[in-house]
Amino acid sequence: MRRTLIAGNWKMNGDLVTNAALLQAVRSGAQGLAAELAVCVPAPYLAQAKTALEGSSVAWGAQDISVHEAGAYTGEVAGHMLKDFGCHYVIVGHSERRSMHAESSALVAKKTKQALAHGLTPIVCVGETLAEREAGSTASVVEAQLQPVFAELPDQLKHIVIAYEPVWAIGTGKTATPDMAQEVHAVIRKQLAAADSAAAGVVRILYGGSMKPDNAADLLTMPDIDGGLIGGAALKAADFLAIAHANQK
Ligand code: PGA
Repeated sequence: MRRTLIAGNWKMNGDLVTNAALLQAVRSGAQGLAAELAVCVPAPYLAQAKTALEGSSVAWGAQDISVHEAGAYTGEVAGHMLKDFGCHYVIVGHSERRSMHAESSALVAKKTKQALAHGLTPIVCVGETLAEREAGSTASVVEAQLQPVFAELPDQLKHIVIAYEPVWAIGTGKTATPDMAQEVHAVIRKQLAAADSAAAGVVRILYGGSMKPDNAADLLTMPDIDGGLIGGAALKAADFLAIAHANQK
């Protein structure tokens, strides 16, 4: 049994005042939900998220983690620091970091390992570009992105979350149809099964890319879609909560 996870990726958005209202609304709206809720906030607001969400059913997390423990790494944030602020989750390998910060799949695997070493649950993002999809290479692209994670963590795969986010659907308003998404989720679960058959049954595979209240129900009903990683719609409490309410599992 995989509990649906609806995770917000705030990206580089927010300020103290806006966040306070959003966190409060998410906290109160989360009561009685079947789905698990989480928000991944910009690092400077982790303390605010901790204060606002502590004692509630909503988890919080970060959007990146350093592969290093401590030291001369200007601008980086270490796993133990995220832990200090009560993070449960950390997003690793988001396509924006892969493309704009040149993060390789090998680096993403190291970040995944570092997250687990600090008791954080990594949300490992994978996904193809439009050109890759049109070339018919979606399955091989996500496999190449996941392979270093499988190799780096052969015994810990059951502790990760995977997010399938087709790059062409992120922030564009273009969503993969439920069938398109399900097809890739099933492929990813098969790839996971080949690496660790026990993990394949328990690892949650989230869909991300323009998930909104009006398409969430159809996506979340698919057998291998275990939740969503929500960008734009996570910035409005009503939309974020409506997505969580659309989950019928
Ligand atoms: P979006 O972003 O929902 O705004 O498309 C999703 C993500 O990038 O995680």
